[in-house]
Amino acid sequence: MNKHWRTEQDQDGIIWLHFDQADSSTNVLTIEALGELNAQLGDIEQANPAGLIICSDKSSGFIAGADVKAFSRITEAEEAKKQILQAHAIFDRVEKLKCPTVAMIHGFCLGGGTELALACRYRVCCNDPATRIGLPEVRLGIFPGFGGTVRSTQLIGHLPALNIMLTGRALSGSAARRVGLVDMSVPERQLKVAAHHLAITKPKPHQPTWQLQLPGNGLLRPLVGHFLKKQVAKQANPVHYPAPYALIKHWTKYANNRKAMFTSEAEEVAKLISSDTAQNLIRIFLLQEQLKAQGRKSDFKAKHVHVIGGGIMGGDIAAWCALQGMQVTLQDRAPEFLSQAMGRAHSLFKKKLKKPLLVRDALDRIMPDCKATGVPKADVVIEAIFENVEAKQALYAQLEPRLKKDALLCTNTSSIPLEVLNKTLKNPARLVGLHFFNPVAKMQLVEIVSATNTDKNIALQAAAFAKQIGRLPLPVKSSPGFLVNRILMPYLLEAIVLLDNGVSGSAIDQAATDFGMPMGPIELADTVGLDICLAVADKLAESLPVNVPERLRTMVSEGKLGRKSNQGFYLYTKGKAQKPAVTEGANVLPDLADRMIICMLNEAVACLREGIVSDANLLDAGVVFGTGFAPFRGGPMHYIAHEKRAAMQQRIKTFGAEADAGWTDIIGG
Ligand code: NAI
Repeated sequence: MNKHWRTEQDQDGIIWLHFDQADSSTNVLTIEALGELNAQLGDIEQANPAGLIICSDKSSGFIAGADVKAFSRITEAEEAKKQILQAHAIFDRVEKLKCPTVAMIHGFCLGGGTELALACRYRVCCNDPATRIGLPEVRLGIFPGFGGTVRSTQLIGHLPALNIMLTGRALSGSAARRVGLVDMSVPERQLKVAAHHLAITKPKPHQPTWQLQLPGNGLLRPLVGHFLKKQVAKQANPVHYPAPYALIKHWTKYANNRKAMFTSEAEEVAKLISSDTAQNLIRIFLLQEQLKAQGRKSDFKAKHVHVIGGGIMGGDIAAWCALQGMQVTLQDRAPEFLSQAMGRAHSLFKKKLKKPLLVRDALDRIMPDCKATGVPKADVVIEAIFENVEAKQALYAQLEPRLKKDALLCTNTSSIPLEVLNKTLKNPARLVGLHFFNPVAKMQLVEIVSATNTDKNIALQAAAFAKQIGRLPLPVKSSPGFLVNRILMPYLLEAIVLLDNGVSGSAIDQAATDFGMPMGPIELADTVGLDICLAVADKLAESLPVNVPERLRTMVSEGKLGRKSNQGFYLYTKGKAQKPAVTEGANVLPDLADRMIICMLNEAVACLREGIVSDANLLDAGVVFGTGFAPFRGGPMHYIAHEKRAAMQQRIKTFGAEADAGWTDIIGG
């Protein structure tokens, strides 16, 4: 019985092989789906058709990749290798079919999906914005393992293929056409005709130019590999992220030797996939899916958003919503307060949309509106004015009678309890926190804050709205600092204490980045703004045992606010921190990172105990996406569990050495 694949033959003798994975909205290459594909290929070999076109029946796209959930269950490299070799054999069968083969791609075509397409003789795709083709495996701590490293380098040339695999970026249809990853990129209505045309006319398959083949030359490869490693080192620490380095090594050793490259691909990917790094990155990928699922619990859809307060946050929230296709009105006290926000919106649209017509359309979607005419039309109203209880409450009093019946009323407050803010509302259950992070266009997380009396359905609608604008919603309980700021603050404050103890800012920052944080805490405090850090720390200190360092207060009173005033803990020239080099051994304590990170871990445990988030997985997801907590460590709660296990293993090893060899069985050899 065919559960996932079905075939039909057209009047020209071409078989159309449709992938429509049962019980799923997305096609994924599970072991079962691969097994069924293998069986179908047996029938197709027998039928010897005039051509084969592989397509997807899902509206979401072609194939989203291999089964990432199953990756997380792989613990043994040997088991992984067995599965990879099976996939190699199946894709090899596709490649060896006598008839012309075409992959007909729309929407997402990623990882294993792209590798299956690469095994076909031709590829045709849609040129709409939803079509994305790529090999994002490095983001999961591995590299393409279903023949992708072999076939992509042969098809489009070494450097373009390595660029796609090393960055993990997905290409639009037209970009894929330009590099030769697909043969044709056409409007959706012409997709079938184009696929059929390729199968019938059998043009000469794409081949890279000799210039693109040149870097694969055995003499040049070590040089190219060295250059690539240097490029990758600017983005990823090899200790934390070994996958891109393993890919470069694999390519340098075996490129242009097809057989050896397939063997090495299976071995190397199997080793990587069973490593802690890959397992943790896979965990983070799955947690991201869990956050997205929070936004699927309501079918709320917004068209018009009204934002009040066109400052750093409100201005950028308004621009982000317009970028995502919403109609936006932006209100402030007077037009002059909106000029900066409109300028920043323009820059964002230019950067993200590039094409002048698209930029113009996005600008048309955002309207300065100091008379608040957008309020009665808006599906979502977001307040982002000064962090002041009376000002916010006064504003809500004007807003509430003018809101549409089902409109969401949201606040971006970073520290005021919702129970306080909603007190003066006629319907207090209506207010929900939509806590964005700065910078809005970069930070994916949005905390959905509920007070004890917030309507549960409204919180679900707010989460759906966050998902609608491409952000990750994290439901949290209203309490000081919510989740992310509460966990981040003790870490930042400990870093300032270390500065007071004479450790240099550069050494503190380096200890944190060595641990895997994207930016050190001193530079982070400067980036967030020392005035904002102080305000949040003071707010937390009202209810939690937080000591606010005097140095922070002094600096704020002296106007040293961080990056925005060109002086904070560092001096800034052209927005870049002037960091003195870390001198070896000077003032560097061996447990520097631990001192700061443990403050975070401690607070994370407290948040979980107090039920600020519903479970440890959501907590980990929130902290990784809200603070950038070293993703390859799997999140703070996972890190605690893992460290404990590692410590236990170490103790067993020590005892085992003293006792007998049988001890090692407990820890797996
Ligand atoms: P900001 O000071 O840059 O902007 C506030 C804007 O609100 C100003 O343009 C001001 O003219 C306007 N405004 C004040 N009262 C108004 C009123 N009654 N009607 C219309 N407009 C009014 O402040 P920022 O940093 O954008 O913060 C806004 C809110 O977002 C605050 O609640 C803050 O706690 C929160 N937040 C701030 C973050 C940050 O990193 N700055 C991060 C997350 C939340």
